[in-house]
Amino acid sequence: MRSAPWPLVLLGLLVGVARGLAVAATVPELLETYECTRCHRLTSPHRLVGPSLWRLGERADAATIRAAILEPDAVVAPGYPPGVMRACLQANGFYRDIQRQPALLERIVAFLAGASPAPLPLASPQPAAMHPVPAGEVRTATGQAVVVPAFAIDATPVTHAAFERFIAAGGYRSKAYWHPVGWKVVVRRRRRTHPHAWDPQAAPAQPVTGVTWYEADAYCRWRGAALPSTLQWQRACLAVRDWFGAAGKAGDHWEWTAEARWQGGASATSLAQRCAATVPAYPAVEHAQVGFRCAVPLPAAPR
Ligand code: HEC
Repeated sequence: MRSAPWPLVLLGLLVGVARGLAVAATVPELLETYECTRCHRLTSPHRLVGPSLWRLGERADAATIRAAILEPDAVVAPGYPPGVMRACLQANGFYRDIQRQPALLERIVAFLAGASPAPLPLASPQPAAMHPVPAGEVRTATGQAVVVPAFAIDATPVTHAAFERFIAAGGYRSKAYWHPVGWKVVVRRRRRTHPHAWDPQAAPAQPVTGVTWYEADAYCRWRGAALPSTLQWQRACLAVRDWFGAAGKAGDHWEWTAEARWQGGASATSLAQRCAATVPAYPAVEHAQVGFRCAVPLPAAPR
């Protein structure tokens, strides 16, 4: 995979993301993510499968709009068949997501009612199990010095138990967490509901491996984080004490980075070499020796 700019764009967007939600999107983006715009026009009075939501606030108040979303079959707009909206929103994970994150629903209701949307509550950018890494320099493969801004990264590779929570929370049923290609290839085409070689009996603290880049990416987004860039990974490896000790396995454990590369598994003579070791990989492959961690950007330290 070419080192496309989108993972970096994604990282940028992740600042201020709410825990559990993919990317802090605008309400129109959310309405697209949850397929509302498949059935509703937002900017014109034309009907589609459902009534136009354009200027909805002029004919319905917030409470009515909320009820129409939560109970589509109880509050059916005249002339439309019941059941269509509910089925679609159940399938794409909307109801589960707003249950976990009621602010999401309130933003949508406020937007449709015409009031100014309330901001999403901010996630704690640094859960306990993450290491803060201050801004600092690393050398790229070509020997160039690059400054990596401050970020926090998981202290250990994502464990089997942690990934299981993602599965149980409907991670494989909610498009919102997935890169569009990952959703298409991994969830739709391969019909995955868990990683390919998932072993329910595996030790909970064991690093999860055998996941495609898309699954690793979706898991991190679900947590309101992102895969670390290759440079972030390298920086953390050099800055965090006992980095490889935490991985538990010397020499054969690689980790995904945002650019869909594998990092850190080479047996090298020096720490610097091992931290910098990286190989390009294909994002749709899974490998029994490849796991991952997640990272979040941190605000720059005040000067
Ligand atoms: C599969 C098509 C479909 C999808 C997807 C869909 N809706 Fe609907 N929606 C409908 C239909 C049909 C109705 C009218 C019948 C009903 O209420 O069930 C409706 C009614 C509504 C109403 C009441 C409108 C009025 O004029 O009273 C609101 C509000 C609404 N939808 C919001 C949403 C939102 C927000 C989403 C996305 C989170 C969404 N809908 C997704 C089909 C859909």
